Amino acid sequence: MPLIDGKKVAKEMRERIAHKVEVVKNQTGKVPGLATVLIGEDPASMVYVRNKNKTCKELGFNSFQHNLPETTKENDLLALVDELNQNDQVSGILVQLPLPQHIDSQKVLEAIDPGKDVDGFHPVNVGKLVTGTATLVPCTPAGIIELLNHYSVDIEGKHAVVLGRSNIVGKPVSLLLLNRNATVTICHSRTKDLPVVTRSADILVAAVGKANFVTGDMVRDGAVVIDVGINRVDGKLVGDVAFDEVEPKAALITPVPGGVGPMTIAMLMQNTLKAFTASIQPS
Ligand code: GUN
Repeated sequence: MPLIDGKKVAKEMRERIAHKVEVVKNQTGKVPGLATVLIGEDPASMVYVRNKNKTCKELGFNSFQHNLPETTKENDLLALVDELNQNDQVSGILVQLPLPQHIDSQKVLEAIDPGKDVDGFHPVNVGKLVTGTATLVPCTPAGIIELLNHYSVDIEGKHAVVLGRSNIVGKPVSLLLLNRNATVTICHSRTKDLPVVTRSADILVAAVGKANFVTGDMVRDGAVVIDVGINRVDGKLVGDVAFDEVEPKAALITPVPGGVGPMTIAMLMQNTLKAFTASIQPS
């Protein structure tokens, strides 16, 4: 089975991070702290945020949970972000997206101190990603690269096709692949002759949010297929890739669940540790 075991790779990462936290705690008496901000009660967001806080505790991080009502005003959220920016106990800040319609998400993301921006969504960190100098890289894209590295997938010179152009996954993963010298094609809803493009992919990343969107005829034999989708169909989690059709053709493929998903939180922890380490360096 050409399966990429994200669950196992993420577990090993968490163990390495927990060990580093232990070491730094013994040296300095300090530990990283992650503040999460959740507005409203979207069930999926609630699960994600709960898992992030649970992982913090398992790894020896402090976690600060701010769960606020759907009616929270933009100014109050900006004031909270400012307070977290000033708080020395907080190494990383994560404002869970999507935010309610009445709040300007971009304004909120831009209010986060770039050094605490563990999502890598602040324009300063996006700019560093573009120039190939980023330290805080968006978590899901960073997790994808980590998986490709772990399975020794050669990226240089390969044709990487990314389906989806979101700021959270599609655009940043395209830049990371480009920074690793892949030839990158970004596809989206207006792309013409999509199967022709996807069939030329050595590495295919599906991040469109549509269940079973990538079918067997869209994938060439021997491709590495990364499925970022988390879609619920009849109560079951399925990816953007029609797994049963694509798996026989793929050299390697991520399952859903257990592929990219577990990596996102592991990378968030890694970013928080990085932000913490940078903050305790004498300047
Ligand atoms: N919503 C879905 N994915 C993400 C993520 O990676 N970070 C944040 N902050 N919100 C999200």
